[in-house]
Amino acid sequence: MENKKVILITGTSTGIGKACALHLDKLGFKVYAGVRKQADGDNLLKEASGNLIPVILDVTDDNSIKRAVNIVERETGGELYGLVNNAGISLNAPLELIPLSKIKMLMDVNVTGLLAVTKAFIPLLRKSKGRIINISSGHGLLAIPDKSVYAASKFAVQAISDSLRVELRPFNVNVSSIVVGKVNTDVLGKILSDRKEMIESAQTDIVKLYSTLIEFFDKEVKDIPGIDADEVAKIIYKALSHPNPKTQYLIGPGAKKMKKLAGLPVWLRDWLMYKAIYKSKKGEK
Ligand SMILES: NC(=O)c1ccc[n+]([C@@H]2O[C@H](COP(=O)([O-])OP(=O)(O)OC[C@H]3O[C@@H](n4cnc5c(N)ncnc54)[C@H](OP(=O)(O)O)[C@@H]3O)[C@@H](O)[C@H]2O)c1
Repeated sequence: MENKKVILITGTSTGIGKACALHLDKLGFKVYAGVRKQADGDNLLKEASGNLIPVILDVTDDNSIKRAVNIVERETGGELYGLVNNAGISLNAPLELIPLSKIKMLMDVNVTGLLAVTKAFIPLLRKSKGRIINISSGHGLLAIPDKSVYAASKFAVQAISDSLRVELRPFNVNVSSIVVGKVNTDVLGKILSDRKEMIESAQTDIVKLYSTLIEFFDKEVKDIPGIDADEVAKIIYKALSHPNPKTQYLIGPGAKKMKKLAGLPVWLRDWLMYKAIYKSKKGEK
């Protein structure tokens, strides 16, 4: 048992966040599970032990963040051992087809929201010499076509992790990033429905220009096997409990492949990507 160390996780209604909240709860941590809707908190309570506490937390809303900090501060005496920045959204499409409002929303959740939550909880983490775990992605190591917006946000998550790791070292606050490949969560369905909506709302002649790229990545989302969210939860536990946590954990074959490709000379990886997308059609060399 982890002696009731206090952990706050953002975005625990589904997927990785939910798996992580339930896993850490089972191991004896005192989990504050961030949700945006009361109903999602109630659902978590049905599966959790009596110790898990759902907390309403929208990472794009300053007041919501303040309220969450107040709750954790009041109930724990101001000590937070772990902050798991998990809340995130995804957008996959050629940039020309993505409405600006969606780009701004993604940056607000994945980047500004993560920074705002982290900034608000640093005093509590400092007090308990705690840990920050940022959920990143293979797309935070290698930016591929169709993912310009999402990759920009996850590169930012890597940058924030690198910067804070040294900035918070004097206070013994550790920072790790979890670089995740494909995980079978609700996000995959959201990606496909969002993508369909963006394609249907765009001008047909523009969509046509990207048809090869769209076809390639549609197939990729559907065909590449993902891992279970529970696998990620186990690694998050490792990052929270190991005496010397790694700065970066790579999970799943996708993340490892992205890391390898990112190490290639730029001209070579560009050529490999271009060839895979545009020259892989039957009859082309
Ligand atoms: N699944 C993958 O293949 C994969 C791969 C690499 C990285 N990741 C990363 O892993 C993290 C979790 O993704 P997932 O796959 O578990 O997706 P998911 O099932 O869609 O979960 C996303 C979570 O983020 C929450 N969220 C969205 N906007 C929010 C906001 N403004 N404030 C607070 N919470 C918000 C959602 O809450 P609501 O239900 O209220 O919307 C939900 O709980 C994300 O950062 C994602 O980028 C996922």
